[in-house]
Amino acid sequence: MENYYWFDIFSLQMFGNQTKPIINLKIKRLMKIELSIEYQIFESDQELEEDLQELLKASKEAVKLSYAPYSKFHVGAALLMSNREIVKGSNQENASFPAGICAERVALSAASSFYPNEKIMAVAISYHNSTDDSSTENILSPCGICRQSLLEATQRQQAHIKVILSNPQGKIIYLKNADDLLPLAFSSDHF
Ligand code: THU
Repeated sequence: MENYYWFDIFSLQMFGNQTKPIINLKIKRLMKIELSIEYQIFESDQELEEDLQELLKASKEAVKLSYAPYSKFHVGAALLMSNREIVKGSNQENASFPAGICAERVALSAASSFYPNEKIMAVAISYHNSTDDSSTENILSPCGICRQSLLEATQRQQAHIKVILSNPQGKIIYLKNADDLLPLAFSSDHF
């Protein structure tokens, strides 16, 4: 609490021979904190290290395994494991919409199931929007729940997960640490 400052402002007015405060404001000056994240933009996968190029390719293959008849937005995620294996996941939708699951969390669940003792080194994410083939400029960034899941995977394994986000044109956003996608995140420290 020492980062909070309180000020009392008094204005005094004379009433006969008495002095009374006419205003008594308490102003809280909050400490301002700025958070920033760092990422790189690459125009093509050729600017990535070779193993990450492979990973991105795997995420594009995973897009083809997506089941997205409702949104028609097909997402693929690929995880590079510490044993050099690649685990793929794609979004799987359901007529009862909340039952659907994102590509990233399909891949994370598969990784914990198949390789529980390996670390996740990197994740690559790709998409194809089959309702609008012209919308290829946006670089897909994971939804909030997937960010939360990536953050917990990072905490569990106590090692950073690199992130490669892409668009169908081949442009890439690269982050060194998946945690950076979710500042001030909820965590088990809260309970
Ligand atoms: N989706 C993903 O698979 N990953 C994301 O990070 C964002 C959204 C899926 C969920 C749903 O099947 C479709 O994309 C449209 O939201």
